[in-house]
Amino acid sequence: MPLVSMRQLLDHAAENGYGLAAFNVNNMEQIQAIMEAAVETESPVIVQASRGARQYANENFLRHLILAAVELYPQIPLAMHQDHGNSPATCISAIENGFTSVMMDGSLDEAGKNISTLEYNVKVTQEVVKYAHARGVTVEGELGALGGIEDGHGAGLSAEEAAEHLTDPDQAVEFVEATGVDALAVAIGTSHGAYKFTRKPTGDVLVMSRIEEINKRLPNTHLVMHGSSSVPRELVKIIDDHGGNIGETYGVPVEEIQRGIAHGVRKVNIDTDNRLAMTGAIRKAFHENPKEFDPRKYLGPAREAMKKVCVSRMTAFGQAGNAGKIEPKSLKQMKKFYAS
Ligand code: G3H
Ligand code: 13P
Ligand code: ZN
Repeated sequence: MPLVSMRQLLDHAAENGYGLAAFNVNNMEQIQAIMEAAVETESPVIVQASRGARQYANENFLRHLILAAVELYPQIPLAMHQDHGNSPATCISAIENGFTSVMMDGSLDEAGKNISTLEYNVKVTQEVVKYAHARGVTVEGELGALGGIEDGHGAGLSAEEAAEHLTDPDQAVEFVEATGVDALAVAIGTSHGAYKFTRKPTGDVLVMSRIEEINKRLPNTHLVMHGSSSVPRELVKIIDDHGGNIGETYGVPVEEIQRGIAHGVRKVNIDTDNRLAMTGAIRKAFHENPKEFDPRKYLGPAREAMKKVCVSRMTAFGQAGNAGKIEPKSLKQMKKFYAS
């Protein structure tokens, strides 16, 4: 099966009432972990690469690793997505490098640090939609601002500031109509990374009700939750028990994500949980076998630990069992779909 467009996967998820985890990748072990989990659970897959991932792994390595996954697992529909594209140029270069889906994150300026204006966001997103849809490629836009770290994907907003920049449902309708995006990332109080909440989140900080409001106004738009790692205590404990210091912190509970899925969320972005799982496994291997120096002896367990997280999320979000039910459409077919 060739790479498929993300729109096709999101449409299938919407028609059948499930959500898709979108896992970030930077290297071979992470791609293998996702694919092994997908095979075990018969799940369609979204792999996504940030700009940092594209730089770290190198464009050609990344593309060929993903193409190797396609070749090895023809039964798994797989979309390759640019995460947090910061400009039309980034999205265009992703498409030129084989990505079948791009995110134009115009919620921030090009440096990814300051909140942009709605006019700027609409303009850059429209530009990307025009270019991408003419090639059958999917576009995700973002409206509102995530909280937390100033990491090139966030303006470093405090929880209070982030609460002032949740996605406005009226503006969401205006944005989707003006841009024609396939999917909309919404700000509901989450942030990237491990330090999202200082206690188990309640509705005042993790505003799931906002998703319900947006979904009512935009029932046919696929919603995306960023910053959706759950930061499981057991993964943090493995790190902290083996010389790490993550400490007490809380993520987005899986049951809240499931509530989102019941209200139009079709794509759920997860990176941190996999990073935690891999780091814990590596720390444990180093701690338990201080004389070992074969990278396979710690990267292997790291891959296995990430696979477990992927299996768990694929099952919880309902994407498991759907791989074989999707008849792949080519980008050429998707191009015609957008033109019609
Ligand atoms: O959006 C954030 C993802 O976790 C990717 O992070 O830019 O460090 O690769 P990154
Ligand atoms: P986490 O840091 O919660 O895994 O979020 C990842 C993300 O949103 C990638 O775009
Ligand atoms: Zn994100």
